[in-house]
Amino acid sequence: MVANHFKKNMQQININNLFRPEILNFSVDTKKLGLVNYVNLDNAATTPPLIAVETAVTNYMTSYGSVHRGAGTKSKISTDDYENSREVIKNFVHARPDDYVIFTGNTTGAMNTLAYFFSFLPGKVAVSAIEHSSSWLPWIKAEGIKMLGSQRTSLEDMDKVNESIQELGGGQVLRYDVSEKFEFNLDRIEQLLKIKSNHVKVLVATASSNVTGYCPDLKAIGKIAHRHGAYFIVDACQFIQHHPLDMQALGIDFLVASGHKFYAPFGGGLLIAPKKFCDKFLPYQIGGGNLPYITEGGEFLRYQNQLAHDPGTPNAVGAVAIAAALKELKVLGMKNVETYETNLTKKAYATLKKNPNVILHVNEKQLNTVIPFSIKGQDATMVAEKLNSDFGIGVRAGSFCVYNVVRKLMHVKNESTIVAAVKNGDTSKVPSIIRASFGLANRPEDVERFIKAITALTK
Ligand SMILES: Cc1ncc(COP(=O)(O)O)c(C=O)c1O
Repeated sequence: MVANHFKKNMQQININNLFRPEILNFSVDTKKLGLVNYVNLDNAATTPPLIAVETAVTNYMTSYGSVHRGAGTKSKISTDDYENSREVIKNFVHARPDDYVIFTGNTTGAMNTLAYFFSFLPGKVAVSAIEHSSSWLPWIKAEGIKMLGSQRTSLEDMDKVNESIQELGGGQVLRYDVSEKFEFNLDRIEQLLKIKSNHVKVLVATASSNVTGYCPDLKAIGKIAHRHGAYFIVDACQFIQHHPLDMQALGIDFLVASGHKFYAPFGGGLLIAPKKFCDKFLPYQIGGGNLPYITEGGEFLRYQNQLAHDPGTPNAVGAVAIAAALKELKVLGMKNVETYETNLTKKAYATLKKNPNVILHVNEKQLNTVIPFSIKGQDATMVAEKLNSDFGIGVRAGSFCVYNVVRKLMHVKNESTIVAAVKNGDTSKVPSIIRASFGLANRPEDVERFIKAITALTK
């Protein structure tokens, strides 16, 4: 029954219709297998463009003109396509009708924008202990700068200022703890928000961990945040490309994601945010384009729409690429995408689980589309290198910008040698595990090659 469903789903998703053959059959020379098709198991880092995305971008080039700045036909077409992209995005995640879609470079840019906005409001920020650093550090910086106040300093004293920013900002950002399995504990979140002196103004949560793939119960977390008067921000960077996502049903106030993680690698990212909130703030970046008028006396008037947050000439190509990707994913159906990818991952996981030399850092219940693992007695970076050079498989080894999780997984008790090495420019001691991550551009043969390679490496 399961096998039949798997087969049916494999037929429903024919990746030969989704990606150019040159992308799917990119050949590489390997030490052990000779010339083979490259197997990309690093989809959690970034993803190749869909044909639909490349076509949309090429077509956009034909009529490309200045966005929001010209009276010419090309300018009008380009502006319309750019603006329509926002509607496609809102529709895909079921945003509220008057939500803004603000284009950013990536998730990091979106989170920095939010940290800037929120730094004007009183209260603290709650961030989970499994967040990517891009959901943590922007808050420390923005809050720290605010706490520093109006002091100015000399160039020579900037080191001290940077330290103060980290210290002051760190005090404003609370990290809510997770369980031994790196799962959210709803009671602990509730406790943290209950403490009046914490006055949590905003709670940040990942929709899916980029290390384990674990997906917390967003709806329950959102409810806790709202019950205690906090806004709810979700990092959908590792989720939007794999699963159906409904902002309204989940009670998400702000959503961030990166186009390059969902088959639109053209430099675009997105922030979805309530209009009522964004209209209160000066844009994160200001200059040309996002102000309708500056008076003789220097007062700048503002747009009461999302254009206010579109500084400079926008990355319209990135926006159009994002919309094209989401349209295609919608046609495929996110439930089908989810089944296709999780089936591939489960297949790989089941075999790795039987291998006594493989240490899996994710359990079956959490398993999503990433497999974090180590090989007993082997250095993660070396394993990743060998997978590439000997078997033509691309994975990533490292800490994945979530150092505390990988530190725990690697049982690091004393980090002083790591710190000393990094300060000397040597990053080889940074704790490291391997992550194989699956996506739409993978085929069952990719799983077979991966299993074959791991079996050979652990013999
Ligand atoms: C969960 C998560 N959040 C945020 C980011 C940052 O994304 P970007 O590099 O596109 O800014 C990543 C990137 O890997 C991620 O996995």
